Amino acid sequence: MKFKKKILCIGAGYVGGPTMAMIAHKCPDYRVTVVDINHERIDAWNSSELPVYEPGLAAIIKKTRGKNLFFDKDIAGQIKENDIIFVSVNTPTKTFGAGAGMASDLQFLEKTAREILKYSQSSKIIIEKSTLPVKTALAMERILSSAKGKISFEVLSNPEFMAEGSAMKDLENPDRVLIGSRETISGLKARKELVEIYARWVPKEKIITSNIWSSELSKLVANAFLAQRVSSINSISVLCEIADADVSEVARAVGLDSRIGGKFLNAGIGFGGSCFKKDILNLVYLCRFYGLPEVADYWESVVKINKYQQERFILHILSTMFNTLAGKKICILGFSFKANTGDTRESPAIYITRRLLAECADVVISDPKAMGNAALDLADEAGEISYIKNPYEAVQGCHAIAILTDWDLYKKLDYKKIYQSMVKPAFIFDGRNIIDHKKCFEIGFNVYPIGKPGLSHFKNQPGI
Ligand code: NAD
Ligand code: UGA
Repeated sequence: MKFKKKILCIGAGYVGGPTMAMIAHKCPDYRVTVVDINHERIDAWNSSELPVYEPGLAAIIKKTRGKNLFFDKDIAGQIKENDIIFVSVNTPTKTFGAGAGMASDLQFLEKTAREILKYSQSSKIIIEKSTLPVKTALAMERILSSAKGKISFEVLSNPEFMAEGSAMKDLENPDRVLIGSRETISGLKARKELVEIYARWVPKEKIITSNIWSSELSKLVANAFLAQRVSSINSISVLCEIADADVSEVARAVGLDSRIGGKFLNAGIGFGGSCFKKDILNLVYLCRFYGLPEVADYWESVVKINKYQQERFILHILSTMFNTLAGKKICILGFSFKANTGDTRESPAIYITRRLLAECADVVISDPKAMGNAALDLADEAGEISYIKNPYEAVQGCHAIAILTDWDLYKKLDYKKIYQSMVKPAFIFDGRNIIDHKKCFEIGFNVYPIGKPGLSHFKNQPGI
């Protein structure tokens, strides 16, 4: 079959795989190929055990793989073959040298640019899909413009706003698609070509275009604003606990103001995930780099409150359980950074588990999708850890439960049965405020939510 467009994506990760699957699904007359230096990942994409869990993804892969969606190891050959190349490689926080711990590590992106330059035999549109510091396209253009002869490259910015766990829904029905380009004749032409792809399924008014720097910066700012809301409500949660207010009631009252809106106001143990912290720190680094210390400090406080929220959760467990956790068995329900994903990158559960182990607690980890990743994250830990997927088996003989992920499953458990199998007094620390606290208290648990009065059977011990 002759395909209308040939699209390549370099980077077969959480973004590259699902986004390309959606394009292939919506545009059966386009050929879409995804490559990666990680050959195991490519093998996994070609198997029945996909490397990424997303509701709805497997069905789309089943429909498109081998027809117009391909996962391939030949990066050089595919660069030659394709005219439109998305770059969706990882851009983690730098761990070395200048900017370590803050700036973006752009080595994977730069390597990709050099490979594109090396293997291209015709002009191409290169699309930044990765999240990048503002002005990265300039570096990309400078590398690519060293091409000899008639080949030219047009660099576009098309950041991805999908969230994990709802990736397929977000990709199919995005709030907006953002495309940034140079405002030159060739830049606008390339922009039009990319708009055409999305217009196959996204309403035109939701495809917004901008200059390339606005597009790069908007992605960092969007993540910073979302994370800021989480830190804002978490900062209020501690005040609620002291003032006998209920953070859910406060969030509802505040969020019903249509100017504020109700989303991203769930208090809990803080945000995790591969991007919020990395992107805010990157923004902070950029502000310091450009000589804006006040702006940098403002955004850095969002990350500081997140850490504070996790630390105070641990200290609360410790003080409530009579100031010692040594030898006590604590069951962690939920290890992924949010529900509906097996991803544990920057999950608050990693930090909380480490701190519990440092208190010499025995930790039992349970999660419906993240057991493998949890074991990898904690591989270097020396303490007592066991991994039991079935929550009813996991809680047996435990002194306390800490709910760290908002999986629906945990809302529906038979807490009476669970209570019976635990050591008494039994404690629940609901780090996501998802269970029925009153009901669990009536069963016999001492229950401690976030940002609400605790429900304790001990005399003279208020919640927190
Ligand atoms: P990931 O680590 O899951 O995937 C990146 C892939 O790129 C890896 O498989 C890696 O092997 C591959 N890679 C690295 N260098 C390569 C090279 N030179 N050639 C070929 N392949 C190479 O990362 P991800 O979560 O998919 O994120 C990718 C980018 O998208 C990041 O910039 C991230 O900030 C951004 N982003 C992520 C999400 C998300 O939900 N995970 C959402 C929006 C944006
Ligand atoms: C986030 C953004 O929502 C996406 O738009 C963006 O594309 C993506 O980052 C990215 O750039 O990687 P994601 O990290 O997958 O998506 O998940 P979110 O739903 O944003 O949740 C992030 C964290 O915040 C989770 O740990 C979640 O539990 C926490 N959170 C979220 C709260 O604690 N309270 C809330 O009210 C909302």
